[in-house]
Amino acid sequence: MRVGVIGGGQLGRMLALAGLPLGMDFHFIDPSPEAPARELGHLIVAPFDDRAAMFDFAQAVDVVTYEFENVSAPLLREVQVARPVMPSTDALETSQDRLSEKRLFQSLGIPTTRYVALDHEAELSRAIEQTGLPAILKTRRLGYDGRGQVPIYEPGDAGAAFQTLANAPGGLILEGRVVFEREISMVACRDQTGAVVFYPPGENVHQGGILRSSYAPFRESPLVRQAESHVGRILEHFDYIGVLAVEFFVEDGILIANEMAPRVHNSGHWTIEASVTSQFENHLRALAGLPLGRTDMRQEALLVNAVGRMPDASAVLACPDVHLHDYRKAPRPGRKVGHVTALADSRESLEELAPRLFEMVPFERHG
Ligand SMILES: Nc1ncnc2c1ncn2[C@@H]1O[C@H](COP(=O)(O)OP(=O)(O)OP(=O)(O)O)[C@@H](O)[C@H]1O
Ligand SMILES: [Mg+2]
Repeated sequence: MRVGVIGGGQLGRMLALAGLPLGMDFHFIDPSPEAPARELGHLIVAPFDDRAAMFDFAQAVDVVTYEFENVSAPLLREVQVARPVMPSTDALETSQDRLSEKRLFQSLGIPTTRYVALDHEAELSRAIEQTGLPAILKTRRLGYDGRGQVPIYEPGDAGAAFQTLANAPGGLILEGRVVFEREISMVACRDQTGAVVFYPPGENVHQGGILRSSYAPFRESPLVRQAESHVGRILEHFDYIGVLAVEFFVEDGILIANEMAPRVHNSGHWTIEASVTSQFENHLRALAGLPLGRTDMRQEALLVNAVGRMPDASAVLACPDVHLHDYRKAPRPGRKVGHVTALADSRESLEELAPRLFEMVPFERHG
């Protein structure tokens, strides 16, 4: 099967690394000739809004998927006439706008943060009355790794916060800040017959809005059941095919949905070594109409992202059962350039190793 992936970043790279053993061929479209997936398939170098290039790309493959979330949904609908696009463009379009995402959660009975959408500074003080403070002002579109977000602690901060984001296309949303006990995310996959598999959730730690680490599995079973029920409803709603990730806050024993990603997800990278079948392989199995693989874990896992630059490989690999992934990206502060996954038989062993890993694996947010 020829798989077309929109985006040639690390997610595309890891999809190809999972699909090549299954005999799949990969085609990517990405604006950068240096895209991390370049060496694993055929790369068309073109902007994501280049209609002609997008059609050339789609015509050469059997199925189109995406690892980049901000491709134009109308363009993708045109592509869909020529080739199947999975997951559905509707799921992608919903995830592109924090407002439509939150409305979806509400319509499916999934608790989400308090929020108010707004376009003008004059609307801000009423919005703050509704969300309370502290709050976070976010762009509705195009945010990632904490970009496009400004915290508001006092009413006096509001004007400056608004000015920082005022030029964002697509409007803003104010969210009440959740005082969460933890953040967890669930990765799930649905195949073409409607069968669904859930991975155990991972427990995520963000620093400055960027995912730093994730421990899996998260085991509090009432919360795991809540997450499966919420994520299952989203999958059914879209008649979804492929991998979906949903991020949650845990507050007073309740899950509050933060956002969803209709694709393989950073918080599930530990599935490569720790799970019977990785998120990447299951996504591809779903696209190909193949049976999904088991999602139970062979061992406990700790994922640590390398942000800014890569760690010293010989130091990391001197730790027993630690695995290194280098996305072959140029170093730059704030950029995810790789990750490591540590495996062990117990959470305690991972917690013991963690300080050494955090020291070895760079986290460089600012230059
Ligand atoms: N309403 C909120 N209450 C508390 N913390 C929040 C809230 N919104 C965001 N955060 C914190 O900031 C992090 C990043 O926010 P969010 O997931 O909305 O942004 P993003 O930039 O889209 O991130 P991603 O890289 O996951 O796409 C969250 O994981 C959480 O730690
Ligand atoms: Mg997020």
